[in-house]
Amino acid sequence: MNFTSLNKSFLDVYQVLPQQAFFAPGRINLIGEHTDYNGGHVFPCAITYGTYAVARKREDQLIRLYSVNFPEKGMIEFDVTQLDYNKDHSWANYPKGMIRYIIESGYQLSSGFDCAIQGNIPNGAGLSSSASIELLTGVMTNGLFELEIPQLDLIKIGKRVENEFIGVNSGIMDQFAIGMGKVDTGILLDCQTLKYEYAPIHLEGYKILIMNTNKRRELAESKYNERRSECEEALSQLQQMLSIDALGQLSEAEFDKNQALITNETIRRRAKHAVYENIRTLKALEELRSGNLAAFGQLINQSHVSLRDDYEVTGPELDSLVEAAWNQPGVIGARMTGAGFGGCAIAIVANEHVESFIANVGADYATRIGYNADFYVASIGDGAKKIAMEEMV
Ligand code: GLA
Repeated sequence: MNFTSLNKSFLDVYQVLPQQAFFAPGRINLIGEHTDYNGGHVFPCAITYGTYAVARKREDQLIRLYSVNFPEKGMIEFDVTQLDYNKDHSWANYPKGMIRYIIESGYQLSSGFDCAIQGNIPNGAGLSSSASIELLTGVMTNGLFELEIPQLDLIKIGKRVENEFIGVNSGIMDQFAIGMGKVDTGILLDCQTLKYEYAPIHLEGYKILIMNTNKRRELAESKYNERRSECEEALSQLQQMLSIDALGQLSEAEFDKNQALITNETIRRRAKHAVYENIRTLKALEELRSGNLAAFGQLINQSHVSLRDDYEVTGPELDSLVEAAWNQPGVIGARMTGAGFGGCAIAIVANEHVESFIANVGADYATRIGYNADFYVASIGDGAKKIAMEEMV
């Protein structure tokens, strides 16, 4: 991506230069999938792929947004007092929802602003391009209007946008990872209490590869909300005997002992995943901290198996990539990442095998699925922030 071009786009669209620049990353989740809305733990990190914005305050109350990624949508414009969801505003509903809830949280925008956005997160790949735009809007609003909204509040507002403005019943993982990310660091987050700790990720001699199925994953239209209600159903059946607020509070043994309370077999498997995945996530951090990469990788592999067999959110595309990855030399572990139903998987691969890995897994995938996967090396980067204008040229 050429950032001179983002400034130039701003100049072309608005006939004036921008004043400030901002960045928000995408995220991958190392382990802890579909645990956030079950009050469990997640272990994501921010990646250096993300979304950039340049912006300038206006004299009037207009907000104008332009995305270099969606030039066909043109400049999208609305008044700072007109912040209702509008289908025709497509991607701009994410910034719009953020601004609306920021104002509803008691902050004031002294004027409108003009903004141009450009991202290099593959759209619809499950790397949280939407949460990236949400947090980007948060730090941009903070920067332009000196609001000093704490990052954790922006994270919560981002989740609210997703849940109430867009209508996806997602948890807090994506916004949290994108808001709090740090270079070369994973974040272990307890989604019940929002307590978190940073864990350095030093995979000496290995790379984290992102494998994109190129099967578009439309969260809102997917079975995401269905899985959520299945877990709620399991919880309420368990609550007949257990005083718990979330599946994430159970140990494996407690679940095993009480699982018969869940009458439906499918729902029992969903709950089993949520409980076991949460424990796996805690174990994974321990293994990583003791430098036991092989054991860390095993847990990552088990996570995929559980998401495939018990939670059933993988599908042939993700399974093909991950199963092909497991068969390659130099692979510590591989699993789907994010919501599933298409999107991306990750693999931890020894440096010297990366090239052959991509060739072999890519060929295998194309044969089985009929179109190509894409591969990117992930670097773990910082969370959403203001950046210097110079970084944009
Ligand atoms: C999506 C949601 C997250 C989380 C994951 C699954 O990314 O936005 O809140 O539930 O799926 O772990």
